[in-house]
Order: sequence, then C-alpha cells, then structure tokens
Amino acid sequence: MSQLALFGGNPVRTKPFPSWPVFDAAEERAVLEVLRSGKWWRNSQGEDGAQDHDGEGPSQTAQFQRAFAQSHGARYGIACANGTAALEVAMKAAGVGPGDEVLVPPYTFIATATAPLAINAIPVFCDIESDTFNLDPERLEQAITPRTKAVVPVHFGGLPADMERINEIAARRGLVVIEDAAHAHGAQWNGRFAGTIGTAGTFSFQISKNMTAGEGGLILTDDEALAVRCESLVWGGRERGRPWYEHHRLGWNYRITEFQAAILLEQLKRLEEQNARRMANGIYLNQQLEALPGIHPMRIPAWTTRHSFHLYAFRFREEEAGIPRRDFAAALASEGIPCSTGYAHPLYRNPVFLNQEFYAGRCPVSCRREPPIDYAAFREHCPNTELACREAIWVEHRVLLGDRADMDDLVNAVRKVFEHRGEFSATPAR
Ligand SMILES: Cc1ncc(COP(=O)(O)O)c(C=O)c1O
Repeated sequence: MSQLALFGGNPVRTKPFPSWPVFDAAEERAVLEVLRSGKWWRNSQGEDGAQDHDGEGPSQTAQFQRAFAQSHGARYGIACANGTAALEVAMKAAGVGPGDEVLVPPYTFIATATAPLAINAIPVFCDIESDTFNLDPERLEQAITPRTKAVVPVHFGGLPADMERINEIAARRGLVVIEDAAHAHGAQWNGRFAGTIGTAGTFSFQISKNMTAGEGGLILTDDEALAVRCESLVWGGRERGRPWYEHHRLGWNYRITEFQAAILLEQLKRLEEQNARRMANGIYLNQQLEALPGIHPMRIPAWTTRHSFHLYAFRFREEEAGIPRRDFAAALASEGIPCSTGYAHPLYRNPVFLNQEFYAGRCPVSCRREPPIDYAAFREHCPNTELACREAIWVEHRVLLGDRADMDDLVNAVRKVFEHRGEFSATPAR
C-alpha cells in the first residue's frame, strides 16, 4: 500500500464521514413554529405552574416527555436541562442524600461521579469489565458498605450493562439503581430499553449524543411518586396544583425550552433507523477488525437486543499490534478516520477528586466518613479502568451512520496502518 498519510502519503479517505447533528426541514419547521408562537417556555404564567399551555394543547416539552417515555416503554419522562441535571435530580428524588455512598464506574464522563457530590453524597468508584467497559457486577458486590445507597451503571458507548446481576444485587442489598443512559437512547437489554430497567434512567441530549438539541436531559421512571418528585426538583421545588410561589423542597431551575423540546420531537423520529444503521455497521466493523493483532472489539453480550453505538470502541494492545497506541490513533486520523484515545485517565485521577475540591474542604466527604476516603487509592482497585485508559480507541457514532463502503474505508485505513507498522519504532514519538 502507498505511504502512510502521516508521513506524507495519500490518505485512504478524503471524503468526510456523515456530519452530526442530522437535521432537515422538519427540525427547521419545528423551531420556527415555536419561535412564531411566542411560546418559548413550557407553560403559560398561570397560577398552576406545572400545567401545560392553557387551553392550547400540550406544550412541546410535555409532548416530548410523553413521546420519549412511550417510545422507551416507560410510564413517566421528566425533561430537564442536561444529563448532569438528570442524574442529580434522579438521585435526590430517589432518596440519596448527605453522607450516602453512591457506586459509580470511573470510566465515564465526570457528571456520573460529581452528581452525588452535588447532593452531598459520596461517589465511590467501582471497576469496569475490561471487555465491555461497563460496571463489573462482581466488583459492585464487593464495594457495598452499610453506607451504600445507590449504584449508577453507565451503558457505556450504548452497550447495555449487565442489568440482571446489577438489579439482583441491588434488590438483595437494598440499593437504588440509577441507570446513566446518556449514551444509550434506544439501546435495549433483553428487549427492554436502557434507562427503564432500574429505579430510574437518565439521558443527555448534548450535541455529541445520539439524539440532540445542543443541550437537554431527561429522566425515565415507572414510579409515579418518584416522577412527581423529579418534576418538582426541576421546577424549583414547586408542586403541581399548588400556588406558583409556594416552594416545597430544595430544587433547581433545570427546565428546558420549547425550542429544544420541538427539535427533540423530530430527533426522536430518526432514532430507531439511525441506531439500526449504527448497530449493523458496528457489528460489521467488529467482524472485520477482530482478526487484526492487538485489536479487541468490545464483547457484545447476548442480552444486547439493541446497541446504540454512541461510540465504536475497541481495545488496542500495543504490545500485540507492534505500534504505540498514540501513533496508531494519529496515523488513523491522518488516513481520514476520525478517532480518539478516549479518557486520558480514570475519573478518580482528576484533581477535583485527588484534592477533594468539593466544598471548601468541608462536608460531605471529610466530615461524614471515617476513615476519610482516599481517591488516589482507587488506582489499586480499578485495574481494568486503568487499562481502558491506556488501551481504548473510540470512533464517534456519526461515522457509523455511513454506508458499507464507508466502513470498508475505515477497515482499509486500519489495515494500511498495520502494514506500515515497522515504520513507527524508527519515528520519533508524536
Ligand atoms: C455517561 C455520561 N453521563 C452523563 C453525561 C452528562 O450529560 P450532559 O453533558 O448533558 O450534562 C454525559 C455527557 O457527556 C455522559 O457521557
């Protein structure tokens, strides 16, 4: 094959992969309708704050909450500002509070672990499985203490976690299960949708996600009382049917706008077809790439009836491949394949945890727990996360919205880099 693009050759691919977000006249129309209506906020300013627009049919937000919940087979959906807010609200509404421990994986976005801190609870890290990047139920069982109140499995990259064992352990040990489904819109575990299998599930509609309005979030649950508490927390502690300036609990303003809800109603219509395409392409890539030395695609357990492939991820073992991972990623990117090496370090290695820069050095962690928690020590307990940070390669989901020829370009680019593997050791590290 020709010279590597990294060293001046022609790239395998110059054509861009599908761009993200995907939208057309439907989203444009939806936004314009909201704009022209003047109803940019969920409800009229009537006394009864939590109701929809007076006499004018349900708001976009109410319609979207209902549509998203229905499409996922859940009874209630509560829209909110973002996926971080959704986690905070769901945890607080489920009874997690000061001094409670919340078990979270360290291989995820920071919000999964800072949401407990935002409600004065203590995040405790629990390792992942090396071949799925999802929470390891074995480790979960070992990490439970009398202070543990909740567990937050993340369906990482859109691959459903082992919910049978997580739910079984949680039921036996009396834990709340908040599924972080920020990557898993429309993903399914044994035919049930991610985000509907635990006590509650949370979603993000931030720009990188499989459905987006730029920002946004949502909580799903089947528990009516929990849904009512979530809504109250999103609405500044208000209660339905009570006077507008009567506040019942410490909440937030975590509402979304009608513009976002209108866009999301359209994005939801695209989700199933897009996820089907992502999954077909993800499985094809696994088949093509797993034969290469050092490339270990994520295991897709039999319970995965739909993988939303928010990320196409694999482990790249440089000692087997004979190429340093950073060189492999740089070479692949130069060949026209958008990819990254993912999280540079586990969450507990972030300064915010190492320095416990939470509440000016005071509660909750330092005063509530004896002995005080030492986040640096988690590196001993989380070897699979340490490894994932050294080995992962991620490809964005938009790439998987391409066709078979696009996937073949990706595979050919990987093969080309492998064919040139001898050239890396002689080259200064990049
Ligand atoms: C796993 C996970 N959880 C939660 C979030 C937080 O979502 P948001 O950015 O909407 O606050 C993200 C966002 O990247 C995420 O990846």
